Amino acid sequence: MIAEDLFDLAPVIPVVVLDDAEAAVPLARALVEGGLPVIEVTLRTPSALEAITRIAAEVPDAVIGAGTIVRPEDAERSAAAGARFLVSPGCTPRLQAAMVATGLPFLPGAATASEVIALLEGGLTAMKFFPAEAAGGTAYLKSLAGPLPQVRFCPTGGVGPGNAADYLALPNVGCVGGSWLTPADAVRNGDWNHIRKLATEAATLR
Ligand code: 3PG
Repeated sequence: MIAEDLFDLAPVIPVVVLDDAEAAVPLARALVEGGLPVIEVTLRTPSALEAITRIAAEVPDAVIGAGTIVRPEDAERSAAAGARFLVSPGCTPRLQAAMVATGLPFLPGAATASEVIALLEGGLTAMKFFPAEAAGGTAYLKSLAGPLPQVRFCPTGGVGPGNAADYLALPNVGCVGGSWLTPADAVRNGDWNHIRKLATEAATLR
């Protein structure tokens, strides 16, 4: 799998924050059943790596990835835990090298033309656009498509049901990411039906 393949698997990548690894498997099943097989578990909680391992082992139809990769060791640990792709909110040469070293596809974060060009110099054409809404949203991405049409983005940060379709209509958007599919309350209460319904709605956005 290369990073661009992630764009073809689903229009939306749920960005998941998990406080309890016990929730990982039923949560991933609900997302997959709703039609969103690509799932990003962020390394923002102590249980994230355990959650990735459980999903990798028990939900074979999920394409489980690790997000919030900000240190080289995050990339190594995520790969060891079973992640099949990596996502970072930004990038540095050191972080890029660590993600390349895992052999996994990855979406490095970029928010300016210079950051995009730096990643292009590294041979990368699939990126996360973060923080999407705060950085300028769809108008900003349209502007980047002029000089940099070879890049495709996964905009994340402020993307939700109200604006996801606008992003997905842009030629330089491969998919979008967001946390709206897994509201904290629903995860805490184990309301997998609600999460399945949100995923089902999102899966038809493109
Ligand atoms: C991310 O890490 O990609 C964002 O925190 C998700 O942003 P959202 O919560 O605005 O969807």
